[in-house]
Amino acid sequence: MRVLPNSYAPYSGVHVAAAVEAEDGTVYTGVNVENASYGLTVCAERVAVAAMVTAGRRRVKRMAIVADTREPLPPCGACRQVLAEFGDPDTLVVSISAATGERREWRLGELLPHAFTARQLPRRGSDAAP
Ligand code: THU
Repeated sequence: MRVLPNSYAPYSGVHVAAAVEAEDGTVYTGVNVENASYGLTVCAERVAVAAMVTAGRRRVKRMAIVADTREPLPPCGACRQVLAEFGDPDTLVVSISAATGERREWRLGELLPHAFTARQLPRRGSDAAP
């Protein structure tokens, strides 16, 4: 992915890029951004979703992840939850190792079964996606 070299990962050395395709076909990208205060690190997937929402889109059709790890990087639990806000159980997640070219794909429903979403909230905001 074009933005992978922009990943800021001086502490872990794990470079990650992510892209989400919105419903209208527009693609938004992100990279992981680490911090000297380690816990403030943000994953590439959440940066990509935030870029999509910033642009006014609310629905992820599919997500791609590229990392310089030997195996395709599965999205972390926090990123699965964030993706569930804007995707659905069928949303495709494709992950590719930049080191080996190995590719894996999952549906969001298998990565995060029984997701907690706005449907569980008694007073779901009318603006909630989707
Ligand atoms: N990372 C991601 O960008 N996405 C994930 O789903 C898992 C982990 C990043 C965070 C950190 O910068 C590095 O990978 C090692 O955990």
